[in-house]
Parts: sequence; C-alpha cells; structure tokens
Amino acid sequence: MEALKGVRILDMTHVQAGPTCSQLLAWMGADVIKFENPQGDATRGQLRDVPNADSLYFTMLNCNKRSITVNMKSAEGKQVFVDLLKKCDIIMENFGPGVLDRFGFTWEKIHELNPKIVMGSIKGFGSSGPYADFKAYENVAQAMGGAMSTTGVPDGPPFVTGAQIGDSGTGLHLAIGLLAALRQADRTGKGQYVEVAMMDGVMNLCRVKFRDHQRLMRGDMPEYSVPTYKGMGEVPRAGNDSGGGQLGNAIHCKPHGANDWLYIVVQEAVWEPLAKRIGPDLGIPDLATDARFAAIGERRKNQQLMWTLIKKFAEKHTKRELMAILNPLDVPCGPIMSTQDLANDEHVHGRDMWVELDHPQRGKWWNVGMPIKLSASPAVIRRSPTLGEHTDEVLKEVLGYDQARINSLRSAGAFSVPPKKAA
Ligand SMILES: CC(C)(COP(=O)(O)OP(=O)(O)OC[C@H]1O[C@@H](n2cnc3c(N)ncnc32)[C@H](O)[C@@H]1OP(=O)(O)O)[C@@H](O)C(=O)NCCC(=O)NCCS
Repeated sequence: MEALKGVRILDMTHVQAGPTCSQLLAWMGADVIKFENPQGDATRGQLRDVPNADSLYFTMLNCNKRSITVNMKSAEGKQVFVDLLKKCDIIMENFGPGVLDRFGFTWEKIHELNPKIVMGSIKGFGSSGPYADFKAYENVAQAMGGAMSTTGVPDGPPFVTGAQIGDSGTGLHLAIGLLAALRQADRTGKGQYVEVAMMDGVMNLCRVKFRDHQRLMRGDMPEYSVPTYKGMGEVPRAGNDSGGGQLGNAIHCKPHGANDWLYIVVQEAVWEPLAKRIGPDLGIPDLATDARFAAIGERRKNQQLMWTLIKKFAEKHTKRELMAILNPLDVPCGPIMSTQDLANDEHVHGRDMWVELDHPQRGKWWNVGMPIKLSASPAVIRRSPTLGEHTDEVLKEVLGYDQARINSLRSAGAFSVPPKKAA
C-alpha cells in the first residue's frame, strides 16, 4: 500500500463505476475519503441480504475508504467541500449529467479553487454530443457500446455479458486516466479534467469487433463459425467463437450440467498432437494428416466438423479430465468455472482473490481481491466504512476543525439529510 501513499482523494462516486476506480486506488495506498450524500450511497441499501446492514453491493466496492457525510445542499456543507477540495490531489464523481454544476461547482470553479487538483468524471456518454444529457447504467452502456449486438447467437436476442464492462470497465479506464493526470500535475503543478464515458469504455473493450467490422468490407471472416459475407455491414453474434486468429469454442463435457464445459483453443501449433491424441479414440487414426484439417485454412472451412469430432471425444470425460488430457499437449483450454467453483478454488485462494473480511453490521463476508499485484506495494484489504464513520476524524485530521466548530456545523445541518421541501 505504498504506491499512492500521500495521495488524497475526494471521492464523490456512487453505485459501481466510480467506486470500482476509487477502491483500486485505495488498494494502491491512496487515502480515499468517500464524500457521501447524508442518505448514503444508494447501494448501501440495495439488494440487502442482512437486515439493517450495508449490502454486499456496497461493501464489495468500497473497501479501504473513509466515509464522511456532507449535505451539499447547505451553505455549511459546501464550505466543508471547498475546504476538502483544497486538501486533496484528486476529486472524482459519477453523478448524472449536471449534478455538480447545479451545486455551483463546475470544473472551471474547482480548478480555480485548487489549480493542482485532478478531476475524474464518469458519465454515460460524456459531456458532449447528442447523448450527453442521458443517464446510464451498466447494461445501457453494454447496449450502446457494441457489446450486446455482438454477444449471443445470430438467431437469438442480443445478450449482456456477466462481466461488468460498462461499470467496472469504465472505472478501470478512469483509474488509468487519473494516474496519468496525477503524474502530469506533479510535473507541471496543474491539474486537468479526466472524463470517461461508459459508452466509450465499452467500445474500447469491443475493439476487436470493430476490427471485424472493417474486415467485412473486404470479404467474409472464415474463422467465424456463423455465416459472414463481404458487405454484411454489421458484425454478427457468434456464440462462443474465439474472436481471435485461432479457432476456439466451448465444448460440453460429462456429466453435461450447466457448467460442465471446457473452452478449447485449437491453436495452430497444437493441431497435430491434438489430432494424434483424439483421432484413434474416434476411429480416425490418421486425423493428424487428414487433408480436411491439416492446414489452418482447411480447418477454418471445416470447423463445424472439427468441433463435432472434439465434442464426441469430450463426451466421455469431465471438464477437469479433458483439461488434464489437453494440458500436457499444450492445448490452451480452461473449464467454465461457476462462482461456486471459484470461491472454492485453491489457485484463487492462493492468489488472494477471494478474501474474508469482518464487518460490524454484517459479520464475516468475502470480497474479490486486488487483481493488480504490485511487488513493492501489496494491497491489504480492509472492510468498507459504515455511513459517516469518519466524519469527525476527517474534519479534525484533514481540515483541522476543532470540536466546537464541528458541533456548530452539525447543528446547522452540514452533515445530515436536507429537510424535505414543503409540497
Ligand atoms: C447512476 C445514475 C443513473 C444514478 O442516477 P440518480 O440516482 O438519479 O443520481 P444522480 O447522480 O443523477 O443524482 C444524485 C442526486 O443526489 C444528490 N446528492 C449527491 N450528493 C449529495 C450530497 N453530498 N448532498 C446533497 N445531495 C447530494 C444530487 O444533488 C442529486 O440530486 P438532484 O438531482 O436533486 O441534483 C447517474 O448518477 C448517472 O447517470 N451517473 C453517470 C453514469 C454512471 O456512472 N452510471 C453507472 C453507475 S454504476
């Protein structure tokens, strides 16, 4: 936790996209002050599994942060915000369009108050263009960034992917932008505005589909197992095709349950040993020299038959048995792992990717660990804060307020839910 030691972040993010980013930065050692609406990040109460406890939705995305509640709809709350702004290196937010501006804090104003501060902003569609005024959630971004139209099978509906590429993916993009801007600010003394639109982030993650989009102008795409042709216009959904230069697919294994599948890549270099291993069992001892499959071009043309043969071989084996047969042949492959498989997996535990934590409201729970391993800055994962847990601590330690001042701000409503307007 040394890498970002000394970096202080005013974190106004909520839900998933922004908190993913600030949690990673906290795991790299930044002091992340989660600056919350006094009602709390809405996810604290969403999808609750334990009554009156912060939900897993919240706890899994807000570890290693300090929570302070400030009512930005009061003059006193705004002053606390300004004071904190002056003490932070980064401010980040993922409000709906215009929320910070309505508080009176445009980027220009923030830059004026602290010229060195870097500001990170996530929006569904960015601050310019015809979609700029729209809000967005994960699947809206997947729909509009190209992921859904290219996920599924051609004659079925478009599908979302379980990986949260719209929210968490955008958070990762923002982290990269913030770290680059921080480096520039250290060199020049000047902060800048870093914006990531969820739609842009999803497009970035669908880059290879846009490769294929352009290839379709020149011809078909022989590696696809579904029909493609020159001038097709849009990249089709192609099931579990590999999407790369090597043929790949998911193969159903014994006992043929929902996750009894092995993903296999028939890399060019491994066809011969693979064919020699499976051919005799299939009653085709010469499979390795069979002209229908010997060269990659032929295998692409005849891939349906090749997959049928591999599936037939797989019928007698579980996914783990098949993996054990293919690994010594250097065939890239991996079992489809359920959440249950992963939570119990020795490799996952060994890499600290499933970490047990304690929480005052909910007791023991698990979080997915830090996927970025820094050799000289290993992450130490600590539980998420309860709502406003560090309000006084931050006001005293970071802003130097004394107790009398805190008490007077508190009675003025600076840290509590704004009163409802009369109807
Ligand atoms: C996610 C999203 C759709 C949620 O919409 P929402 O629940 O209506 O929340 P918004 O961000 O638009 O608004 C937040 C409200 O809380 C209020 N608020 C936030 N912090 C506050 C504080 N400290 N004190 C007082 N009020 C506060 C804001 O003023 C705003 O209310 P307003 O509309 O009266 O101005 C929206 O925030 C969004 O599009 N964000 C950008 C894209 C994104 O990140 N989406 C992915 C989320 S995982």
